[in-house]
Amino acid sequence: MSSSQIDHLLEETRRFAPSAEFAAGAVATAALYEQAAADREGFWAEQARALHWHTPFTEVLDWSNPPFARWFGDGELNVAYNCLDRHVEAGRGGRVALLWEGEPGDERAVTYAELADEVKRVANVLTGLGVAAGDRVAIYLPMIPEAVAAMLACARIGAIHSVVFGGFSADSLRARIDDAGAKVVITADGGYRKGKVSPLKPAVDLALGERPGLGAQQTVEHVLVVRRGGNDVEWNDGRDLWWHDVVPQASAEHEAAAFPAEHPLFILYTSGTTGTPKGILHTSGGYLTQAAFTNRIVHDLHPETDVYWCTADIGWITGHSYVVYGPLANGATQVLYEGTPDTPHPGRWWEIVQKYGVTILYTAPTAIRSFMKIGRKVPRRFDLTSLRVLGSVGEPINPEAWMWYRRIIGGKTAPIVDTWWQTETGAIMVSALPGITETKPGSAQVPLPGISIDVVDEDGAHVGNGNGGLLVITEPWPSMLRGIWGDPERFVATYWEKFQRLGYYFAGDGARLDQDGDVWFLGRVDDVMNVSGHRLSTTEIESALVAHEAVAEAAVVGASDETTGQAVVAFVIVKESYLAEHSPEGLAGALRLWVGEQIGPIARPRDVYIVGELPKTRSGKIMRRLLRDVAEGRDVGDTTTLADAAVMNVISAQVH
Ligand code: WTA
Repeated sequence: MSSSQIDHLLEETRRFAPSAEFAAGAVATAALYEQAAADREGFWAEQARALHWHTPFTEVLDWSNPPFARWFGDGELNVAYNCLDRHVEAGRGGRVALLWEGEPGDERAVTYAELADEVKRVANVLTGLGVAAGDRVAIYLPMIPEAVAAMLACARIGAIHSVVFGGFSADSLRARIDDAGAKVVITADGGYRKGKVSPLKPAVDLALGERPGLGAQQTVEHVLVVRRGGNDVEWNDGRDLWWHDVVPQASAEHEAAAFPAEHPLFILYTSGTTGTPKGILHTSGGYLTQAAFTNRIVHDLHPETDVYWCTADIGWITGHSYVVYGPLANGATQVLYEGTPDTPHPGRWWEIVQKYGVTILYTAPTAIRSFMKIGRKVPRRFDLTSLRVLGSVGEPINPEAWMWYRRIIGGKTAPIVDTWWQTETGAIMVSALPGITETKPGSAQVPLPGISIDVVDEDGAHVGNGNGGLLVITEPWPSMLRGIWGDPERFVATYWEKFQRLGYYFAGDGARLDQDGDVWFLGRVDDVMNVSGHRLSTTEIESALVAHEAVAEAAVVGASDETTGQAVVAFVIVKESYLAEHSPEGLAGALRLWVGEQIGPIARPRDVYIVGELPKTRSGKIMRRLLRDVAEGRDVGDTTTLADAAVMNVISAQVH
């Protein structure tokens, strides 16, 4: 057995064909696959022409210097013009762009005309502060309309934004500001999270403050501050400006200049479950092309009638591509929600779906599993019948979570698209297409039209249907990363060196092809376990656990074992309704047997720990590395990227 083969254990045979009715109105067509296969570059050129180009391109792809791609290289466009002015000039300025809901329940509807106006003012303010094309601007804001306006204002003047998630600490913010050499920081006094104001400006002050040995040396000249939380803030005269003092006064006249297609649009630091953050660089024309195209065909977006809601924070790539750039380029009306799903009550998201009549919901498996944990009674209290398309992103979705999403949220009719992509890919790469694909719970299924992927062994050879291996992208794509900010060598080493001879991009994910050639993601390759010489994926065993009626969420890791090399150790969150009636010991024993029955003795966990929480990054990904430390009895390693640093203490206490 080749070392990259990953054994396939779980058989999932449920299938859901699209209804004739849905198929009849679907944005995507089956012909897209044929068109793209016949002429890949021509296909992408056609998608790019859906944007407005100040100077139309004549070149499509320049791959003469791999892995540094150029797409639409001689074309010029303005990203913000495409997201705003274009719609206003076409007479759609009165359409609502953002249906914003604050956590405390305040609301604002912002039309395309209003958003365009605000962005022009902010663009003028930034220019007045000395920000020029190519300069970096750090954005550290809650989910408020100003966050969207700040990003688009940067895009409008060709400044490169680096959005830093509002939940990150002053240290993380400082590292990102320094790495990018930001000239301006846009922040707020604070934002609402879990019923309280969570301060932001104080973290900026700390990040920009004196540092041992270095003093206050840094690149930031100004801090633009939105008033949102109403909390007290310190003020640095000359450096700090209130948004409300300068933006409304600024002129709303601003002509969008044209920038080359390869002009940098943003840097986004990967959350990463391992290693130090990398500043992933994206550029303009190719990125916007693929973000907008995929948002239309994968989410089946009908901008005139849909109410779209992507729940991601703008601090993540999903917020960049599917809250800001894709939907706004398409003229969508979307919900933007500031707060957490369970504040002030556990049905908050479903209340928002009901209130705005949300038709398309795009969220993460971690959220779905946390709703499973509290039970179906909560969503059942709301009218969710407006929902017609459901999406998932961020992790493999376990078949049982997929089924729950379909039954309880989608009313057994809404198609689910499980979308695989990365910060690095910029936009969706592998997904079903609603109305076209017969869906399979737990499978991301097929590469999108115009995207070429494969599942290969260590030598880069195709593994064949029925086998597992490493996911690679075999041809350049428009929204691909153009590099790591300031570190071209790391860019090459991380993604391209492994299959250099073949020119493949290595994604770091394990995947399996089923008998139809559809893709099933198996988790990060670094997390694969080796039990008695069998390479087992975390995803399949976790899915078997989640398929047990008592289990809401599970994480498994390989812990060193004298006899088997590694042994499977499971950490399990039990649904609230089961906790009262069952003892942890009884449940653990039952789950060991269950996994043995579901997938075979090789996968049966040596230990099952019932825990209250799992360690997750701030974007909701499970950090199995830390669980491995617990399973092997070591001190727990670096927890700085955890959403809640206290979780590991609780888990360690529960285990020992
Ligand atoms: C994982 C998020 C399985 C994967 C857009 C990838 C997924 C990493 C899926 C990127 C999916 C994302 N099925 N795994 N549908 N979507 N992943 O950069 O391991 O935050 O490499 O981008 O998330 O995470 P990132």
